[in-house]
Amino acid sequence: MTAHDGTATSTLAPSPDRNLALELVRATEAAAIRAHPWVGKGKKNLADGAAVDAMRAFLRTVDIDGVVVIGEGEKDSAPMLYNGERVGNANGPSCDIAVDPIDGTSLTAAGRPNAISVIAVSDRGSMYDPSAVFYMDKIVTGAEGRDVLDLDRPIADNIRALAGAMGKRVEDLAVAVLDRPRHHRLIEQIRATGAGTRLLLDGDVAAGISAALPGSAIDMCVGVGGTPEGIITACAIKALGGTMLTRLQPKDDEERDKAIDAGHRLDAVLDQDALVSGENTFFVATGVTDGLLVDGVRRSRGLLHTDSIVLRSRSQTIRRIRATHTAERWGDQWLHPRA
Ligand code: FBP
Repeated sequence: MTAHDGTATSTLAPSPDRNLALELVRATEAAAIRAHPWVGKGKKNLADGAAVDAMRAFLRTVDIDGVVVIGEGEKDSAPMLYNGERVGNANGPSCDIAVDPIDGTSLTAAGRPNAISVIAVSDRGSMYDPSAVFYMDKIVTGAEGRDVLDLDRPIADNIRALAGAMGKRVEDLAVAVLDRPRHHRLIEQIRATGAGTRLLLDGDVAAGISAALPGSAIDMCVGVGGTPEGIITACAIKALGGTMLTRLQPKDDEERDKAIDAGHRLDAVLDQDALVSGENTFFVATGVTDGLLVDGVRRSRGLLHTDSIVLRSRSQTIRRIRATHTAERWGDQWLHPRA
């Protein structure tokens, strides 16, 4: 059987189809709009709760039979969008879903840039299960990084190799890294090469994707960040033809033992294809606050403006969707929520 876009499909397990990305963007737009009143209000849990609520309500209407693989956590502590939750109206293809209703909850609460609402989707069974290992070491670049990066080599070697492949001077390279005590040495090593750092308060999804996005202000994103964010980023990297190398970094013996018991090799380097197998990924992000990747939500005279990026690996399309919504439709209780 052949789908309307010319790709082969199976009658038993249809793959998510190309319209899906445009359905999903409604869910990230909704999450960003509902989180926006909480920007700068110092209440990160309320911001996250509003985004989760909105995203879940919109996902319910989408034509998919989805399972949340990367969600808000285990069912006991996450009442909604928990790992294993079924989402969608079940009238569609079976898929894995990774959600981060807000990547950058602290950024949102503080009113800082780079908070986004994100969904990634791939065929059922294709997303890596990190078995509760919360952190991974990551290096993300555009296509030029392919075959020249090596997670086992010093960062200076990788920076020089990328600069060579990009035809740039090392001094012109911008390297994003989370500003954390664990990265102090890494930051020194990056600067010692002559490259410039772009220190992130939070939000390595937006920075990782920017590293692979042609023409962006970031050339490379490195360091230890969240594993869920890594898997979400991998869906986008596959659509952008970029490069991503990662390795699990258990934070203590308990996580280490769990990962080994689940069959993970802790020395294994996982690239974007190991994190998400298959060639049918979707990635959608809407800005909550202004950032590297997209602008945040704006309000003007009864209107709400959103800015989203939509990526699909099969077609390698990069879409930017700027939408205007009537504020009235959203209801006063959502636009002026009370703590
Ligand atoms: P949240 O918005 O879910 O808090 O995540 C923000 C984030 O900065 C991620 O982008 C990143 O991968 C992770 O947290 C890093 O973790 P930590 O803050 O523990 O270093």
